Amino acid sequence: MSAADAASSESFDVGSADEFPEGSITERTVGGVDIVVINQDGAFYALPDRCTHQHYPIHDGELLDGKIKCIHHGATFDLNTGRATLPAVKKIQLFQAAEAAGRVMVTLQQV
Ligand code: FES
Repeated sequence: MSAADAASSESFDVGSADEFPEGSITERTVGGVDIVVINQDGAFYALPDRCTHQHYPIHDGELLDGKIKCIHHGATFDLNTGRATLPAVKKIQLFQAAEAAGRVMVTLQQV
């Protein structure tokens, strides 16, 4: 198993659930990967902090219902499927994120 494989199956504790209030987008770096952690309607989502359009960060984006919008050119990404809207055409990767005993855990493995 390569180091990358080991990192991808490892679960990272990204902080207490209180650090991710409802409707927040929070930057974190786990396993050398820049990600954003989102809390929307009590569910946690984790995705790369990188728009698939022109690779700008998305941590300064805007949350819509079930989506994050990149402020740079307006692409949106579905938080449950990763599906993109124009001008992005490529889905965004979604990582596993869940709350366990008051902590938010992220696994760098595609959902
Ligand atoms: S970089 Fe995100 S929409 Fe262009």
